[in-house]
This record gives sequence, structure tokens and C-alpha cells, in this order.
Amino acid sequence: MKKIVVLGSLNMDMVLTTDRLPVIGETIHGEYIHYMMGGKGANQAVAASRLGISTSLIGCVGNDTFGEKILKHLSEEKLDVSSVRKEDNIFTGIATVFKTNRDNAIVVIPGANDCCDRRVVDENIDKIKQADVLLTQLEVPMETVKYALKKAKEFGVQTILNPAPYKDLPTELLEYVDFLTPNETEFESMVGSKFENSEELEKEMLQWSKRNQLNLIVTRGSRGSSYIEDGKVLTLPCIKVDVVDTTGAGDTFNGILAYAMAEKMELREAVTMAGIGASLSITALGAQTGMPSIQKLKQYL
Ligand code: RIB
Repeated sequence: MKKIVVLGSLNMDMVLTTDRLPVIGETIHGEYIHYMMGGKGANQAVAASRLGISTSLIGCVGNDTFGEKILKHLSEEKLDVSSVRKEDNIFTGIATVFKTNRDNAIVVIPGANDCCDRRVVDENIDKIKQADVLLTQLEVPMETVKYALKKAKEFGVQTILNPAPYKDLPTELLEYVDFLTPNETEFESMVGSKFENSEELEKEMLQWSKRNQLNLIVTRGSRGSSYIEDGKVLTLPCIKVDVVDTTGAGDTFNGILAYAMAEKMELREAVTMAGIGASLSITALGAQTGMPSIQKLKQYL
């Protein structure tokens, strides 16, 4: 049986719906508050697990009500959460998501996610060793991410790093990455320049992946996702849907990509599947609500 391990954050998302964002110094009335399950690590693990693949999550929550609620919910999603450590004297990660009709803005308070150190990796090293894919992001300490990726590579496990939220990547970390999946803005931060058009982005993608010798996939919101095949950048469009909430679209993409890689799919097929899944995920409120099951995904493929 194929296995995925996700190392990453678990958050309680407090989603505040409002007409518009306040400006500095202003108080406005919002409409509603929803408490939703989130955190890039948990979201990506749920996206994979919904497709029926065995998925384990490594991370930390606080020994508090939010931590308990999150773990209960993830167990109901058939995720293995036995590697999520409960930390005393610190609160579970919280994300405040300000959601307007057009877009969202998020402030994350990491809390227990910051306690996710290399000991957590060591305690779960056998799971990583037995996995087909290790998927991780940057909402837990960089040092831990690097250590886990290194270990995974030593065991011959495929690795995916979603560099979100963006932080400068130590060069040696890239040695341990098979697939790097920034969104367009994160890729701009990586290369240190803004792209005026698609040609500039594509040129930079080709140069960057040649220099770093790894698979680069750039997710581009409504434009779809771009990857490199036979020395050319290909962009696969996403499907048209009624947008409700874009939170977690990137996480859905990464979770499904991990599934596809574990199942040894061709890159084109994997990116297509991940892109369709990401589009479907934005049709419901909350990061995880709209993530598709394998049956739903297959209808669209
Ligand atoms: O990628 C979306 C996620 O980012 C949200 O669920 C929130 O928790 C933040 O981590």
C-alpha cells in the first residue's frame, strides 16, 4: 500500500467574513465568524487522504480545546495523527483569515507549530523511511523541514517542498527536494524579481530549474499551473468553477500532487489532477471543505 507522510502545521482558522478590510486605525463591522480546520500541513494531508491513500501527519498542537478538536476532526478524515505531538504550555496554531467576496488576507500565529523540532522527526523516522512521498511546507521551523527532507532523501523517499509561506531557502536544502511548488508570488520572491508577463515567468522557470536541477511547478491561481517538460514550460489551465473561498487551493494542489507521485503517475497527469482538485476546492467555505474525494475528482478528469 502506498504511503504519504506530511510534515507541517495544524491551525484553527478563524474566518472573519467582511465586505472589505479595515484600513489602519479604522474599526468596521464584519458579518460572521467561522471556526474552520486549517494549517498548511493539515490541509495538504487532508487533500491526500480524501483520495484514499494512507497518509500520516507529523506536527504539533497545544494541549488545549482547539488542539483536541483538530485531532478529532483529522482522525475522522482517516488521517494517521499518532505522530502529532501535544505540547504543554503553548496554544494551538491560529490563523485569522479575513475573507471578502474578492479575496482573503491571513495572519498566522504559529503557537505549537513552532515547537515542531527535529526530535519530532526522529521520533517518527520509521514512518518517513516507509513512505513513498514526504510532503512539507514552511509553517514549521525551517531547520526541521531541512532535516526531514535530508532524512527522506537518505532513505530514497520522494520529496515535495511547498515553499509557503515564503522564507529564504538555504541552498543546501534544495539538494533534498525532488519537487518544488511555489505559487507565482513565492517564485518571484525566490528569484528576487517581479514578472511583467508569462514570458518572463517561463524564462525564469527554465533558468532556475536548470541551475538547481529539480522539478519546478509554479501554481498560478486562475491561470492554472506551469511545469517543465522536454525543456519547455507547459501551462495546464484550471477548470471554471463558482468561487466561494480560495483558502487552501494551493494546499489541495500539493496534497493531490503527493498522491499522484506516490502512485507513480506521469508529471503531466499529476499536475492536471492537482490543478482540477485545487479548482474544486475553492467552491466551498474553508480550506478543507471543498477538497474532492477520488470519485469526484475522477468525474472531472
Ligand atoms: O494555506 C491556507 C492555510 O494557511 C490556512 O488554512 C491557514 O491556517 C494558513 O496556515
